[in-house]
Amino acid sequence: MYGLVNKAIEDLVTIKFGADKWDAIKRKAGIEVDSFISNDAYPDCITYGLVEAATEVLQLPASTILYAFGEFWVLHTAKKGYGDMLSAAGRDMPEFLDYLPQFHTRVALLFPHLKPPRFECSDRRSNQITMHYFSERKGLSVFVEGLLNGVAKLYETPALVEQTRFKEKGDDHDEFLVRWGDALP
Ligand code: HEM
Repeated sequence: MYGLVNKAIEDLVTIKFGADKWDAIKRKAGIEVDSFISNDAYPDCITYGLVEAATEVLQLPASTILYAFGEFWVLHTAKKGYGDMLSAAGRDMPEFLDYLPQFHTRVALLFPHLKPPRFECSDRRSNQITMHYFSERKGLSVFVEGLLNGVAKLYETPALVEQTRFKEKGDDHDEFLVRWGDALP
């Protein structure tokens, strides 16, 4: 994945746990470079290795780290670095979610070697949407849950995100139900 992703993991760890923990994670993951370059593409195993090392150093399950990283990605990395792109994608959360399937086409203009996720929407009602997530990568569904919750927080819209299909349990892909407003239980 692009260095931007690994740098964002660095930011998350440094801000929430301190620079010493990041150094320990890098060491455990066997990373020798001082810092990642946002616009360089790195093998996926580097990102997965960082997450695995973080579980050991921080003594947290991978799901906790991936969820936190999803929220952080939207509320910190994307908001600070790509605010214009975010606001162009929607005036409110429902508009943003409707646009999400096209979103990474724009991202790919900045990162030409991007291997983006694929999102599809279905069963769109006034206050809910079903989001389908497809990826060639494994184990990132909790990251997506964190991302979708981050989007809700970005737009200050109380929402409930529930995963309704699980690729790791044999479903064809991961699926999420997002509800807000009067669709909240
Ligand atoms: C301006 C905001 C965003 C930027 C710049 C961005 C950029 C990226 C980049 C660089 C990657 C790594 C892929 C690669 O290097 O091949 C990525 C992956 C990913 N992005 Fe985004 N992204 C943004 C917002 C979002 C949002 C809002 C969501 C979902 C709500 C999302 C979902 C994902 C997922 C799930 C992946 C993991 C790749 C996979 O599933 O295969 N991204 N994105």
